[in-house]
Amino acid sequence: MTTPFPKSPTFLTIDEPFRFEGDLYDLEVEGTIPAELDGTFYRVGPDQAFPPMLGDANPFNGDGMVTAFNIKNGHCDMKMRYVLTQRLAAERAARKGLFGHYRNPYTDDPSVKHLSRAVANTNVVLHNGVLLAMKEDALPYSMDPHTLETKELYNWNGQVTATTFTAHPKIDPATGEMFGYAYAAKGEASDDIAIYGFDKLGNKTWEVWFKSPYPGMIHECAISEHYIVLPLMPQVMDLERIKAGGILFQWEPTYDHMYLVMPRGGDAKDLRVFRAPNAMPGHVINAFDDGGKLYLDLPVASDNVFWFFPDKNGHAPAPPSLRTDVTRWCFDMNDKNSAGVPTVMSNLAAEFPHCDDRYVGHAYRYGFMQALDFTKPYNADRAGPIMGFFFNTFLTMDMSTGKYKSWFAGDTSSTQEPVFAPKSANAPEGEGYVIGVVNRRDEHRSDLVILDAQRMDEGPVATIKIPVRLKYGIHGNWVPSVANK
Ligand SMILES: [Fe+2]
Repeated sequence: MTTPFPKSPTFLTIDEPFRFEGDLYDLEVEGTIPAELDGTFYRVGPDQAFPPMLGDANPFNGDGMVTAFNIKNGHCDMKMRYVLTQRLAAERAARKGLFGHYRNPYTDDPSVKHLSRAVANTNVVLHNGVLLAMKEDALPYSMDPHTLETKELYNWNGQVTATTFTAHPKIDPATGEMFGYAYAAKGEASDDIAIYGFDKLGNKTWEVWFKSPYPGMIHECAISEHYIVLPLMPQVMDLERIKAGGILFQWEPTYDHMYLVMPRGGDAKDLRVFRAPNAMPGHVINAFDDGGKLYLDLPVASDNVFWFFPDKNGHAPAPPSLRTDVTRWCFDMNDKNSAGVPTVMSNLAAEFPHCDDRYVGHAYRYGFMQALDFTKPYNADRAGPIMGFFFNTFLTMDMSTGKYKSWFAGDTSSTQEPVFAPKSANAPEGEGYVIGVVNRRDEHRSDLVILDAQRMDEGPVATIKIPVRLKYGIHGNWVPSVANK
């Protein structure tokens, strides 16, 4: 590498390139790691290995770097590895960036035309003993869950023909089935959607294809006992635009956002589309159905959250100007003419949620998330400017009331997506720990904090000191050791 990374927001403050793979054995702990915690917290985020070929890149374009925090007997070990994609291998061989703009294959170096563009930087999910590093614009990569060795670009042994697969599959705890989908499923900007189901052994149990109402981004899905829901957002793809060297997505302020609802196991003709006013649906907390009523909980932002995918005039709102409402949608599946009915549960700008994984798709009570609490201070003199995504609080929300208990990480810190680990396999819902990375921005390093999920306001029971800086990760999951043999 003979050129430096650009001094742009994507590559500054806590998001300076890190690029270091390694192991840290027995991390320093303040407080006490609960003895009953026995498992691994996997997380992944972008860490661009080479300076962008075309000068700059958005925060989603970096190569996937996976972290595994192994917690057992009150100790924590940490391992970091890149997902060794075809893309990263090619760039390492050339010692320079070879791929062009985000999700625009028409801007790549001709030498990489035959390679997958996958960066596998959005989520890490374990299913059927396979750790999948996922990003929605390509198939995932499989990794060894213990060594983090990259195995292969994964198409479920030939069972998946879509060219993409979501980074947010959902696993039904009652059956072990995994559900996922592909949008742009026949190539970038295509309006084809495929939904897949796999049993707990990875065998395909369901596949259905249909056309999207418009070729927009579908970042998330939710399952309930009888349905799968795909929120369609007004970030719209255009093939001619990328052929001309432009950006794949453009915000369309006149488009509705939509909820595409399909019965589990259904055919294309069974699709129902619930329209909702222009807004940006966020990450799913959970969904469940009861007597033909389908409930979906998620934060909904009032406008475009992705400042790097502006509208046709180049306009995107400043992130602090957005309002985010934690919303419960009710869809009446028995009334064919009904519209979705939203109820705002909280005005807190909360995002990156998890529920207790043992309740995915089923009636539940608690959501665990991070938030930007605007009432809390930020010491920019010591912690530096805020660029990119910023959150400062972890919380447990009671989804029956919208009330929450929270912990503020401090005026020189920012948080990353937390996960939830139950105290035991049989513990009551929500009895357990919220675990998440906190960036100590003034010290240019990070901590892993563990909080009692029902006593968030009492602060961490353990703070695991990480002597290096973890860039902003995107998503992760807690995997109990008993599920990871
Ligand atoms: Fe996501």
